[in-house]
Amino acid sequence: MLIHGIHRTKPAKAVLVLLLLCFVWAWLSNVQGVRLTDDLIPGRHHVDKSTKHTGKLRSRVGKVTVAANKLASDVIHRALLSHERHNARHGYVHYIAEHQAVSGLIEHDRLHRAKGAWTKPAYLLSIIVAELEKPEEERLEWIYWFDADTLVMNTETPLEVFLPPANSSALSEVDLLITTNWDGLNSGVFALRVSPWSVSLLSAVLAYPIYEAPRTQKDRFRDQSAFQFLLENGESPLANVPMKGRDRWVKVPMRWFNSLPVNNAFFKNGTWIFGKNMTKAMFDNGTTEVFDDGHGGKVNPWKVMQGDLVVHFAGSSNVRDSWMEPWVERAEANLPEWNNATTKYLLKEEAAEFWKKTEEQLVIDKAKSKIEEEQKKKAQKEREKKEKKEKEEKDKAEKERLEQVRIEKEQKAKDAAEKKIATAEKKRLDAENKAIQKHDKKLAKEKVQEQKASARAQKAALAKQTATQLITDTARSHPANKTAVASVSTATQLTPSSASR
Ligand SMILES: *[C@@H]1O[C@H](CO)[C@@H](O)[C@H](O)[C@H]1NC(C)=O
Ligand SMILES: *[C@@H]1O[C@H](CO)[C@@H](O)[C@H](O)[C@H]1NC(C)=O
Ligand SMILES: *[C@@H]1O[C@H](CO)[C@@H](O)[C@H](O)[C@H]1NC(C)=O
Ligand SMILES: *[C@@H]1O[C@H](CO)[C@@H](O)[C@H](O)[C@H]1NC(C)=O
Ligand SMILES: *[C@@H]1O[C@H](CO)[C@@H](O)[C@H](O)[C@H]1NC(C)=O
Ligand SMILES: *[C@@H]1O[C@H](CO)[C@@H](O)[C@H](O)[C@H]1NC(C)=O
Repeated sequence: MLIHGIHRTKPAKAVLVLLLLCFVWAWLSNVQGVRLTDDLIPGRHHVDKSTKHTGKLRSRVGKVTVAANKLASDVIHRALLSHERHNARHGYVHYIAEHQAVSGLIEHDRLHRAKGAWTKPAYLLSIIVAELEKPEEERLEWIYWFDADTLVMNTETPLEVFLPPANSSALSEVDLLITTNWDGLNSGVFALRVSPWSVSLLSAVLAYPIYEAPRTQKDRFRDQSAFQFLLENGESPLANVPMKGRDRWVKVPMRWFNSLPVNNAFFKNGTWIFGKNMTKAMFDNGTTEVFDDGHGGKVNPWKVMQGDLVVHFAGSSNVRDSWMEPWVERAEANLPEWNNATTKYLLKEEAAEFWKKTEEQLVIDKAKSKIEEEQKKKAQKEREKKEKKEKEEKDKAEKERLEQVRIEKEQKAKDAAEKKIATAEKKRLDAENKAIQKHDKKLAKEKVQEQKASARAQKAALAKQTATQLITDTARSHPANKTAVASVSTATQLTPSSASR
């Protein structure tokens, strides 16, 4: 635009504009120049806001680092100053934590390493949450994590150059850019979008040593192993989503922002390079010539090369100073082959190509995942349908069985009732019969008694008759015997009435 404008104005005016531009450039360069501040003195939370003073527009990209217990180290201090130069050049706010901020509760490290590794997700989480609480237009959009042992070699390269293009919908959900080497994921430098997903990821990383304590006993790394497990392991709770969450993060080339000072971490004989202080011969020139590590000079995709943004001294802790010092000096020397302003244009092209390919792959993967998801859903639906049908059939059978049981029960009750009635009737009849029998017996008895009484009466009557006859006969034969006859007569009259009772 500017060049276009210059072409159309008169030559004298163009010279004036150029002069003005030169002046502004000189002024900006001057103010943006290295400002060695005392802000990095341990004991104070440090926010590098040096860009504010320059009036330069603040970038929507920020940096976060934990330097707990490390600021006393001269090389770390100077490495952070290389970041400060980079920040000033591009307008990055840089949050640097200087204290450990987690308790022993989360530390089960068998090697008893410092807890700084867990302060990292805690601090990063706090900053992302704070950004999310701001109005969207004021927020940082991306945050780059940098371990304290990273050194900016090329301050000219902006962090924005690596981010996925904002106009791609397929890439709009990519929230994490991370690099990998022979050890798997490397969490020493990564870019994290200020997004709710990032909050979840960091919460999971922070919770990992608590919920996965047995794993941490065996893990080779700390937060790095947590990232590895959560992002790549099928058992991870974060994998329980379509695509196992693989649409959320992308492995990017290591040399974009996480180059290493070694081509191989192990010599051919198995000796670990960071078990040794660096020698002059090992001080990599940043070319395709690599020092003899026994691997035949093949250049690995993480080896630092001239023009790379950052070199990261991962794993060098015991011999860190010997490895870092010459590199720090090289960075401070501001050499043109390292602090190369042209690199960013090449990177821009490389990143555009990379994201184009990634986007294409992601579209394919998402489509595949969608089909898989749909098939899964369909299978689930069919399974549910089948289960429902089976249940219905079972219910029906059960209902029929219950109905049968009910009918049987009813029949049984009916039978029982009928039996009861029959029994009662029988009992009644029996009772009646018994009563009749009893009555008959009584009648019979009475008859017998009557007969007996009648017999007795007949007998008595006969006796009376006989007696009367006798008296009559006697009287007849002997009228003088009248008195005796009268007394006999009285006796025979009394007898029948008492016997009839
Ligand atoms: C996104 O922007 C880039 C560069 O500005 C352009 O090349 C590309 O075609 C755009 N893509 C879409 C989907 O608009
Ligand atoms: C392995 O090789 C390196 C480099 O050549 C050498 O310095 C080191 O002493 C060797 N270690 C063993 C155990 O041979
Ligand atoms: C590395 O060098 C330092 C300082 O010279 C020394 O104290 C240390 O013991 C050396 N370490 C190894 C592994 O050689
Ligand atoms: C680095 O450069 C120096 C001098 O230019 C050379 O002596 C040395 O062998 C180079 N080292 C490597 C590893 O290429
Ligand atoms: C800067 O990088 C470009 C692109 O890689 C390269 O062509 C150029 O030679 C480099 N400049 C210096 C001074 O090394
Ligand atoms: C009177 O009658 C009784 C009995 O029949 C008889 O024994 C008795 O001799 C009679 N007496 C007289 C005086 O006839």
